[in-house]
Amino acid sequence: MKVCIVGASGKLGQYMVRHALDRGYEVVGVCRERSVSKLDAFKGRITVMPGATNDRNVIKKAVAGCDGVLTVLVPWGANHYSAGTAQAVLDYARPGARLIFSCGWHITRDGKDVFSQSLKRDEKLARWFGRLTHIVDIDDQVEACRRIFASNTRWTVVRGSDLEEGESQGLPVWSQHVGDPILASNMTRRIDYALFMIVALKNDALIHQAPAIVGCRTTSALAHATVN
Ligand SMILES: NC(=O)c1ccc[n+]([C@@H]2O[C@H](COP(=O)([O-])OP(=O)(O)OC[C@H]3O[C@@H](n4cnc5c(N)ncnc54)[C@H](OP(=O)(O)O)[C@@H]3O)[C@@H](O)[C@H]2O)c1
Repeated sequence: MKVCIVGASGKLGQYMVRHALDRGYEVVGVCRERSVSKLDAFKGRITVMPGATNDRNVIKKAVAGCDGVLTVLVPWGANHYSAGTAQAVLDYARPGARLIFSCGWHITRDGKDVFSQSLKRDEKLARWFGRLTHIVDIDDQVEACRRIFASNTRWTVVRGSDLEEGESQGLPVWSQHVGDPILASNMTRRIDYALFMIVALKNDALIHQAPAIVGCRTTSALAHATVN
């Protein structure tokens, strides 16, 4: 299995690199030139392609021959970074490759998610902050996901809850819609978010799904397990 990890130098990306290497996968990592040193721990074990993740030439080279592409979608800046990254992956990954993308719970695929007041408030604040500063553009990640949902590639969009650091607790559980009781705890270990992304590569049941995930040891996940 050869996989490309787009955004490999970030926290989520580095966890994904670890999980992929643990499984014996060949790894190509894409990250900004200035962040290459963040991947020093993996020197000699992965191929690093420096460059902006929305640089189509960088992505074209990086995903060549890959069976899977794991993409950290981040809404940085005001130049459609997220949508550009997603589009390049959709355009250049080989036909049939598994494409796994990360985003937050605020993304909705079918409009049936029920968002809490606090999540709505946070999104509103992030949108307002982004418009004022041009540091982030929440709508860019929304547009990236709209393009993914419309594509006929073998995609999965993994929607993360709030994240925390810590030892792995195991594979997160998931549900179709934010607002479902099993997700109420709204917390996942970042290491396990990465695990879910990696495991999704080989889970065809997740193709064309946008699972919203939560830690398997959280109160809401355990309560659901008891009920069933
Ligand atoms: N943080 C949360 O609570 C949370 C909650 C739910 C879902 N998520 C999702 O989880 C994923 C990872 O999020 P994370 O918060 O854990 O972040 P992360 O893994 O630390 O990743 C941040 C990424 O953004 C890149 N980046 C940072 N500043 C940038 C800039 N100015 N221009 C371009 N790229 C830049 C980083 O690259 P460098 O290494 O080059 O800096 C890195 O690849 C995202 O898809 C996010 O939507 C996060």
